[in-house]
Amino acid sequence: MVVSRDMDIIKVENLTKEFNSFKAVDNISFDIKEGEIFGLLGPNGAGKTTTIRILTGILKPTKGSVKIDKYDIQNKPLDAKQLMGIVPETADAYPDLSAYKNLFFIGELYGLQRGNIVKKANKLLELFELKEKIHNKVKTFSKGMRQRLVLAMALMNESKILILDEPTSGLDVKSARLIKTLIKKFNQESKTILLTTHNIEDANQLCDRVAIMNYGKIVAIDSPEKLKDVIQSLSSVEVSFEKPTDIKDFKFVDITKTVKEGDKIKFYTKNPEGVLFSLVDYAKSSGNKIISLNTLKPTLEDVFVKLTENKNDNS
Ligand SMILES: Nc1ncnc2c1ncn2[C@@H]1O[C@H](COP(=O)(O)OP(=O)(O)OP(=O)(O)O)[C@@H](O)[C@H]1O
Ligand SMILES: [Mg+2]
Repeated sequence: MVVSRDMDIIKVENLTKEFNSFKAVDNISFDIKEGEIFGLLGPNGAGKTTTIRILTGILKPTKGSVKIDKYDIQNKPLDAKQLMGIVPETADAYPDLSAYKNLFFIGELYGLQRGNIVKKANKLLELFELKEKIHNKVKTFSKGMRQRLVLAMALMNESKILILDEPTSGLDVKSARLIKTLIKKFNQESKTILLTTHNIEDANQLCDRVAIMNYGKIVAIDSPEKLKDVIQSLSSVEVSFEKPTDIKDFKFVDITKTVKEGDKIKFYTKNPEGVLFSLVDYAKSSGNKIISLNTLKPTLEDVFVKLTENKNDNS
């Protein structure tokens, strides 16, 4: 997670993509700085893949522009594409070739020298823990192994930018962890990374900044930490008392919602500290003992649900 320079390496401006009259991507703008790991986070159909396909020159936008470093993807597609290693959503290797031959084939496509291809292929197979399967045909590989191989294939070209559409989707914990570790490693070694995910925890763990997409629009864009703060009202204080209590007894200020969950009462508030003091006062004056008391910060998932809920309300 090294944000090395303050230079925009990807610049997306007012991008819209319509399929017939349906807006899959609706006037989105964002910049990615050199050295960042940037995440597009959103549910199925949010427009993440469509955005990636425009950025990588596969689809033409209806409106708007994309710059990859100094190259406009529409006017200078070859120059722009040279800068990107891409793992598309439906990426797969050639099933009848071995892992090694797939890497070799890609290396030749990129016009690398034979000696260089051999060196790189061996190094990548080692990193992605595919060394024992080097000569096995890809059709005998598990999904996790195939996904590791397509990532390795995207890395054969020493591009500055790595674009990954759902790199960990459908993988078990171990494969997903290896891929995440390697994404961080390549970022440390100065690659800028753009990835898409449904997985809030992945976005949280990996990304310097996250754009939350829903219905083709960017709902919010910030660091995972700052996004959590945006929805402060989702902070809550959870309390349980020794004796039964009625939630109507609590008339604290700064409470947005009160919920009874089993023997616990949960107060949603922007001011958890104030609520804590009020609860202690209540316990003293009513003679009811507090058994447990927790302050809960919203997770990125809460933030996401809240932001997309708002979006639905507005549309
Ligand atoms: N070629 C196409 N023709 C018509 N509609 C399309 C096309 N490609 C995408 N769409 C629509 O655009 C919307 C966004 O799709 P997209 O694949 O970009 O979503 P996504 O965020 O990548 O979803 P997922 O998380 O499921 O991969 C969807 O409603 C989809 O049906
Ligand atoms: Mg997609």
